[in-house]
Amino acid sequence: MNFQLTEEQLMIQQAARDYAQRELFNDVIERDEKAIYPAEHIKNLAELGFLGMLVAPEYDGGGMDTVSYVLAMEEFSKVDSSIGVIISVNNSLVCFGIEKYGTDEQKEKYLKPLARGEVTGAFLLSEPGAGSDATSQQTKAIDMGDHYLLNGVKNWITNGNTASTYLVIAQTDVEKGHRGINALIVDRHAEGVSVGPHENKMGMRSSDTHSVQFTDVKVPKENRIGEDGFGFKFAMKTLEGGRIGIASQALGIASGAYELARKYAMERKTFGKEIIKHQAIAFKLSDMATEIEAGRFLCMKAAWLKDQGLPYGIASAMAKQYCADMAMRITTEAVQVHGGYGYVKEYHVERLMRDAKLTQIYEGTSEIQKIVISRAIENGDI
Ligand code: CAA
Repeated sequence: MNFQLTEEQLMIQQAARDYAQRELFNDVIERDEKAIYPAEHIKNLAELGFLGMLVAPEYDGGGMDTVSYVLAMEEFSKVDSSIGVIISVNNSLVCFGIEKYGTDEQKEKYLKPLARGEVTGAFLLSEPGAGSDATSQQTKAIDMGDHYLLNGVKNWITNGNTASTYLVIAQTDVEKGHRGINALIVDRHAEGVSVGPHENKMGMRSSDTHSVQFTDVKVPKENRIGEDGFGFKFAMKTLEGGRIGIASQALGIASGAYELARKYAMERKTFGKEIIKHQAIAFKLSDMATEIEAGRFLCMKAAWLKDQGLPYGIASAMAKQYCADMAMRITTEAVQVHGGYGYVKEYHVERLMRDAKLTQIYEGTSEIQKIVISRAIENGDI
């Protein structure tokens, strides 16, 4: 067992840290307050190779490993987790899904521009009535011979307005239940696609979240991913990797809050000494540091398994559940360490606390991760 990062992994971590600290930090409060999509930063990060960092070089990606991805996601999310989710959805849901299961033509046409970061992608699974219960898809993709006719509504879609390429999960054959679901690549600008207003969210306010409606959208048959009826398994397999991205995003939110709390505790004095010298605060920081380290190991283990080509679904569910719940605890404590200052925006920790909440909800709630883990226990897998 080797805990040492390679030279390349350290370089990627440093590049992400430099960009986050130098470029993202300055205007993150304004982006949050005004819910501004970070278009310029996404363009820069695409040029630096982060939008398609996991994609193989033959498809114009960075060819980096998943461990490097966790390191980069942590650094970006320490400062701006909206950037984190945009990068995560593009890399580990959309690019991964097409690279792993798409045809050569789909890779040429859709994956390459996504990997170069010229365009972004969105993953459309959730619906007004199907979030956790993902097999209950109401969006219909009716087989019309040479194309599908797509009708329905998707909710809370990250990159919903800015993405050019949608991966849409829809029901083709109701009789077959989840085995009648398909995954389709849909052009966001196709006729019949309409995007709802930007959601006014509690946190991650500068990520671009919308509902999307499909009205008689014609999707060519060649845009289906995999065999007929593969869509639900495709979504599940793809989310296994997506959850590594969100786990490391939550890890970043927690470590960002911890670093701010530690700095504040070293400077702020009460009762004649820095508050870090009060055991009540020192023990909080001690718990925070230990929990963050535990979360980091869970993320790294899941990433390492994926890089080795070993099953990683249970490890990613554990990492996602632990890191999301941990981020909520750590950010709440970071606000507490800051006292009254923690409750005002300029100290950043209240924003991180709001952002942490979403990591317990999307890409499978913490409760859904426990279903995945407890089923593995029941099956004797762990
Ligand atoms: N890999 C491959 N196949 C899988 C699988 C996996 N990880 N998990 C389940 N399946 C297969 C099963 O084998 C089964 O197929 P068969 O019947 O052919 O064997 C089929 O899928 C149905 O599985 P279940 O019976 O277990 O289905 P279920 O209804 O009990 O639900 C669930 C399982 C794990 C709860 C699933 O519904 C789930 O993950 N829900 C959460 C959905 C989710 O994560 N949504 C996030 C939205 S995306 C998002 O947030 C993106 C964003 O913008 C940030």
